Amino acid sequence: MKGIILAGGAGTRLYPMTQIISKQLLPIYDKPMIYYPLSLLMLAGIQEVLIISTERDTPHIMNLLGDGSDFGINLTYKVQSHPNGLAEAFVLGEHFIGNDDVTLVLGDNLFYGDITFFKEAVASQIAKKDQFKARIFGYYVEDARRYGVVEFDKSTGKVLSIEEKPLEPKSNFAIPGLYVFDSRCVQRAKTQRPSKRGELEITDLIQTYLDDNELGVGVIGRGVSWLDTGTPDSLLEAAQLIATTQKRQGLMIGCLHEIGYRKGFLDPVAFSKVVAGLPSGPYRTYLEKTKD
Ligand code: TTP
Repeated sequence: MKGIILAGGAGTRLYPMTQIISKQLLPIYDKPMIYYPLSLLMLAGIQEVLIISTERDTPHIMNLLGDGSDFGINLTYKVQSHPNGLAEAFVLGEHFIGNDDVTLVLGDNLFYGDITFFKEAVASQIAKKDQFKARIFGYYVEDARRYGVVEFDKSTGKVLSIEEKPLEPKSNFAIPGLYVFDSRCVQRAKTQRPSKRGELEITDLIQTYLDDNELGVGVIGRGVSWLDTGTPDSLLEAAQLIATTQKRQGLMIGCLHEIGYRKGFLDPVAFSKVVAGLPSGPYRTYLEKTKD
C-alpha cells in the first residue's frame, strides 16, 4: 500500500493566512497541519508516500519533511500546477503508484482516536479479503447536507449510493477526505472528464467502482475525531482538541518522529541520532523521554 497526500489547493477560506503559505503548513497547535494526515498513513504502516502540492508550496513542504528518512519513511514530491481536482492526484501519481494499492488523504484532514477502521481497511485491501477494490469511509454527523454522503448496506459494508451535498441526505454518514483504491484508479482518472466546475472529481472516480459493485465503506466509530481544517473556526477547534488532549496525557498527537520510532521504521540508534540533531525545546525534550 502506498500513500498520497494532496496538499495543494488555493486555501481561499483561510485567506489572508494562505496569502504566502500553504494551508497545510499552518499550525494545528504545535505542529504543521500536514503532520497529521502523514501520521495517519504512518500509523497504518504506510512508508512510501507521495506529497502533491502547488509549485509555490512544494519546496517549503520538502524543506519541512525532506526525504522522510528522519521518520523512517520514503517521501517523494510532485507539483500540481492548478487545483484541477482531487482525482488528478492519481494522474500525477501514475509512476509512483505502479501496480500497488494506494490511499489518498487530503492534507487538511485530521483524524484522531482509534484508527482501527483505517488499519482494517488497508489490511483488507491488501489481502483482497472481499469483493471491494475501492474503499471510502463514513463518519456519522448530525447534518450531512454539507458533505458527500454515503448510503450503505450495514451488514455487508457495500455502498448503495453516494451523493454530493444532497438537500435530503439518504444517511447521516459524511465521506471524509480519505480513500483507498487499487491501481486501476490511475487509468480511470486519466480517462475522466472534468466536471462543470472544471475539476477531476473524486466522486466521479468513486462512482466507477460503485457501478462495478466494487465499492466498500468503512464506518468510523464514535470516539474518533474527524476534522477538516479548512476554515478559521475548524483550524481553531482542531488546535484546541490537540492541545487539550496532549496536555491531559502528556503524549503527543501526530508526532512523526515518535511514530517512526514506535512503528520500528527507525531503529533506536537512528532515532537517537535524529533527535540529537533537533533544536532544543519542548519537542526534542519530549522525544528524548520517548526512548525511555
Ligand atoms: P478544498 O478545501 O476543497 O480547497 P482548498 O484547499 O483550495 O481551500 P478553499 O476551498 O478554501 O479554497 O481542498 C481540500 C484539500 O485538497 C486541501 O488539502 C487542498 C487539496 N486540493 C489539492 O491539493 N488539489 C486540488 O485540486 C484540490 C481541489 C484540493
